[in-house]
Amino acid sequence: MKALVTGASGFVGKYLLEHLLENELHIVATKLKENSVVLKDPNITWIDLNILDEIDVMQKIRLHKPDYIFHLAGQSSVKLSWDNIGNTLNTNIIGSLNILESVRVTGLQCRVILIGSSEEYGIYPVNRMPLKEDYNTNPRSPYAISKMTQELLGKLYFNSFNINNVMVRAFNHIGPGQDTRFVVADFSKQIIEIEKGLKAPTITVGNIDVERDFTDVRDVVRAYYSLSKCGKGGEIYNVCSGIPIKISEILKQLISLSTYKGIIEISIDSNKYRKNDMMKLYGSNEKLNKATGWERKYSNIKESLNDILNYWRKEHGIL
Ligand code: GDD
Repeated sequence: MKALVTGASGFVGKYLLEHLLENELHIVATKLKENSVVLKDPNITWIDLNILDEIDVMQKIRLHKPDYIFHLAGQSSVKLSWDNIGNTLNTNIIGSLNILESVRVTGLQCRVILIGSSEEYGIYPVNRMPLKEDYNTNPRSPYAISKMTQELLGKLYFNSFNINNVMVRAFNHIGPGQDTRFVVADFSKQIIEIEKGLKAPTITVGNIDVERDFTDVRDVVRAYYSLSKCGKGGEIYNVCSGIPIKISEILKQLISLSTYKGIIEISIDSNKYRKNDMMKLYGSNEKLNKATGWERKYSNIKESLNDILNYWRKEHGIL
């Protein structure tokens, strides 16, 4: 069996490649020309591919004939989507369309895993949580609109052209190697800089009163793989822990795991606030669990946070 992973050089890509290798799939890993290869293995063929290059996408899919496509490539930052609306819509919608069209035109029998987002749900009252897949979506950011449109395209191609898509709504994920646009990586890097004496003992934060549902990326990729095998075509699955946690609580835990002995101040930076941020978002993973038997292995968030701090310690030459 052959899997093609788009955006394989990104944060999630590296973990997905490792997981696919454990499951003995041959892999075609795509990356933008300017990005680096993140994992070398005889079973991985790396190719340069810009998902916006419609002709190249078609040619590469025709050439490699994958049995599975994990479409990870995209613009993944909600905050950035407000500054780059056109780029976000273009990359996430047209990029996905190019993949779906290539599968349709080449007539390939291939399962496509499209990665959407919990952001598609928008605001819900707390008494309607955990969020379930059959709830209406109400996207409130350019990023959320891009992911909802991708999902609609996925449904269209399933219903109209029999393309065997599975759609995911991924909630927040964390893990070693994530970049500092995302909250846990951002806080962790700052803490390690404080430990190393590179920064005054003040952490800048945005709105830490919001609550989110975090899953370790190593569990997230297991969910994607299980869905590629056992998910039902045309269906949407949440990938989440089902547990809300306040960002302020994560910050507290990160600080408690630090070796810095002094007092760390918290400084609120209004530039880190974002438009239309939801106060609370957590999902139900019941449908995923029923379809695949998936459960988290990293169910203790402290373990994930510790691994993330150690990642930044290594980056700073402390470990
Ligand atoms: N980045 C960041 N930095 N976020 C902060 C900060 C800060 O200093 N302080 C508070 N936050 C809040 C944000 O306002 C947001 O409500 C929450 O922390 C999580 O922010 P991010 O880590 O930036 O992630 P995201 O929720 O916007 O997007 C991620 O999760 C989505 C699923 O919910 C991305 O991985 C998306 O691709 C994914 O779809």
